[in-house]
Order: sequence, then C-alpha cells, then structure tokens
Amino acid sequence: MSRNGARPDLLVVGGGVIGLSVGREAARRGLKVLVLDRGEAGRGASWAAAGMLSPLAEVDVPGPFLDFGITSLRMYRDWVREIVEEVDAPVEYRECGKILLAFSPSDLDGLRKRKRLAERHSIPVTLLDSTGLEREEPALAPALSGGLLLEDDFRVDNRALVVALRESAHLGGVEIRTGTEVRTIQIEGDRAAGVVLADGTGISAGAVLVAAGAWSGELKGMPRPVPVRPVRGQMLSLAPTRPISTRMLEAADGYLVPRDDGRLLVGATMEEAGFREENTVDGTSRLLAVAHRIAPGLGSARVVELWSGLRPASLDGLPILGPDPDIANLYLATGHFRNGILLAPSTAASLGAAIAGDPIDPLPPEFLPGRMLAHEGSTKSS
Ligand code: FAD
Ligand code: GLY
Repeated sequence: MSRNGARPDLLVVGGGVIGLSVGREAARRGLKVLVLDRGEAGRGASWAAAGMLSPLAEVDVPGPFLDFGITSLRMYRDWVREIVEEVDAPVEYRECGKILLAFSPSDLDGLRKRKRLAERHSIPVTLLDSTGLEREEPALAPALSGGLLLEDDFRVDNRALVVALRESAHLGGVEIRTGTEVRTIQIEGDRAAGVVLADGTGISAGAVLVAAGAWSGELKGMPRPVPVRPVRGQMLSLAPTRPISTRMLEAADGYLVPRDDGRLLVGATMEEAGFREENTVDGTSRLLAVAHRIAPGLGSARVVELWSGLRPASLDGLPILGPDPDIANLYLATGHFRNGILLAPSTAASLGAAIAGDPIDPLPPEFLPGRMLAHEGSTKSS
C-alpha cells in the first residue's frame, strides 16, 4: 500500500462504521492501515441505520452486551467531538432522549422491568403514565398507556458520521480504497498473510481485520465459517406538517427518530430476506402504520425517502470481536446487528488496542470469535 509503498500493518476488509472506526483507531496507535471496500465506504448498514444511541432499547437483560453499549454511549460525546474537530463537518450528535412507548397495560409492565434494569446500571429513567406522557408529548396518540423516558439516549446522523469518519481516518493516514472487493483471506501456515481481491490481485499485510458487516460470512479462506447473516431493515423518512417531538419515540414494532432538518425517520422492519436490499409494499405499509399509530397527526406528512439495509446478525445476537482463536494476526469485528452505530467507539477502542498490541481490558469472552467453535459445522469455507 500506502504512504511509502510498504505493506500495511493492518488490512481492514469493509469500510462501514466498524471497519473505519477500528482502522482510524489503529492508525492513531501507530499502524499503517489500508481499508478496502467493494463499494463506496460507508454505504452499507451504516448508511441505512437510524443513528439511535440507545443501549437499553433492544436489550432487556443484564450482561456484557448491555455493558458494552453503555460504555460506548459514555464514550460517544468525546469520540464525536474529536472527529468533528478533525474534519470540521457536523454529524448532528444530539443528546435528545427517547421515550419507549406502551400501547397496553402489558407493554407498561415490560417498561417497569426495563426501568429496574436501567436503575441497576444507574441510568436515569422516568416511568410516565398516560397523563404524564400526554404532558411530555402532546402530539402522540391518546390511546397510549404510558412510556419510559430515557433522558440519556442520544442520536447521531449516521450518514454524516460515516462521511466524517472516512475523512478523519484519511487525515490520520489510513488509505481507503473503494470499489475493491476482497474475495479470499489468505492464510499461510497459522498466520493471516493478506487478501486476494476479486480481480485476482494479492495484497499482503501484517494483520487482517474482517469487518465486512452482513457479508462477513461470504469471504473465502476463513479458517471456519463466520456465522453472520443479513437481517433486513426497511426504513422511510417523512416531512411532517408540524413537528412531533424532539425526542426519539420507540414502540414494540417500530420507532420515530427526528432529524434537525425537520425530517422524521421511521424504522424499521426485521426481515430474513437474504441479501435483497429493497423496500416492499408490506414493509412500507407496516412502517406507515407504526408512524400513524404513534402520532396520528403524521397522516398528512409527505413521504420523503425509502431505503433499506442489512444488519449483520450473529447466531447468538452478540458481536464477534477479537482475534481468531487459531490463526495469528486475523481479527474479526462483525455481528453488531442492531447496534453498530452505538458500538463503534467501544469496538474501535478494544480492537484498535488489541491489534496494536497495547494493553486493554480484556474483551468479554461472550464476544470472542473462539466461541464460534461451538457453532462450527463439519464443513470449512474454501
Ligand atoms: P456495514 O456498514 O454494512 O459495512 C460493511 C462494509 O463491508 C460495506 O461497506 C460493504 O461494502 C463492505 N464489504 C462487504 N463485503 C466486502 C468484500 N468482500 N470486500 C470489500 N468490502 C466488503 N445501529 C445503531 O447503533 N443504532 C441504530 O439506530 C441503528 N439502526 C439501524 C437501522 C437499520 C434499518 C439497519 C439496517 C441497521 C441499524 N443499525 C443501527 C445497525 C447498524 O447499522 C449496524 O450494526 C452497523 O452499521 C454495522 O456496521 P458494519 O461496518 O459492520 O457494516
Ligand atoms: N437499532 C435499530 C434497528 O436496528 O432497527
């Protein structure tokens, strides 16, 4: 690669929020980094996301995943500030809060459980009955039974974030090659030696990081299959005739996320649809119904945009982070599923340090790639 033509210390496969964040961090720790993306870096799930920074919304049990999310959320303000200062471009990071909504007494019971979980982690939350919710959010449906106000849930414009991250990584010396598809991870003996591109070109590297999102399982040459599958999320955005809320609003079947320009994002479906990134009549209808159910005033809103993306989901729903158990200098950072935007700073800190050989708090064993050995079938990828 790179600045002086020497081989990279680290070659990152995939330039989404995860590959870019880890690559940027590794470069800050002194490594020569090359990021390869087969498309335009940052146009995968990281572009499609809603940008919620919301560790409690999709996790209702204590454990390492929730802890990692809370840690990452606490890093976000400084992490984003550094990036924004480096590139002088806004990423719309807003400490806006979220309300989890209950449409029934049983939903409200679920929120009480969530409240206890939040309190165990010293996260400030307020349970609202229907009157309290109406006072806080007068534009919402009168049928709501209440909500849980999470003041410490934030948001970021993920599309702006990946553009800024790309620029920040580049300024930090990371080489980013777009339109460059990796076909095979090259292993020599018991070490990762580099990659082979779809056009047959070989690139050698000191270490290889697989950060190819939902496509991580498609790479050839891995010592064992990477059990990550795509879970499609359809999204749309609206231009409401009147603002609904400055907060994010989330019900069991969907959510609304405001943007500073007045748009309201509506998300998202959860679908096993292979690698088909498309919006369907069913998906769009479901999203419109959720939006209307939460805020009936949205009936007059203009539909601005439809899009979809593929979440990288592992078999156990946890990220796959860290060194391969058998192959030296091969690392994985994938499987971030519904929370990759949130988990970018903590992933970058842990993996960046691990790859650079700097001391770190050990990654939770539940995230380590070695756990995949338990899921491994008899066939190996070739
Ligand atoms: P991606 O962003 O998909 O990047 C992977 C990259 O690898 C792509 O650019 C791709 O081109 C490249 N690639 C793949 N194969 C190859 C190859 N062979 N060679 C070279 N390059 C390759 N998370 C949150 O925290 N908050 C949210 O509110 C949120 N909302 C979401 C809403 C939706 C609809 C979706 C789909 C996801 C959402 N997520 C959210 C999840 C989040 O978007 C993902 O977890 C995160 O973007 C994963 O990042 P990534 O870098 O691993 O993958
Ligand atoms: N975290 C939001 C989503 O995955 O839809």
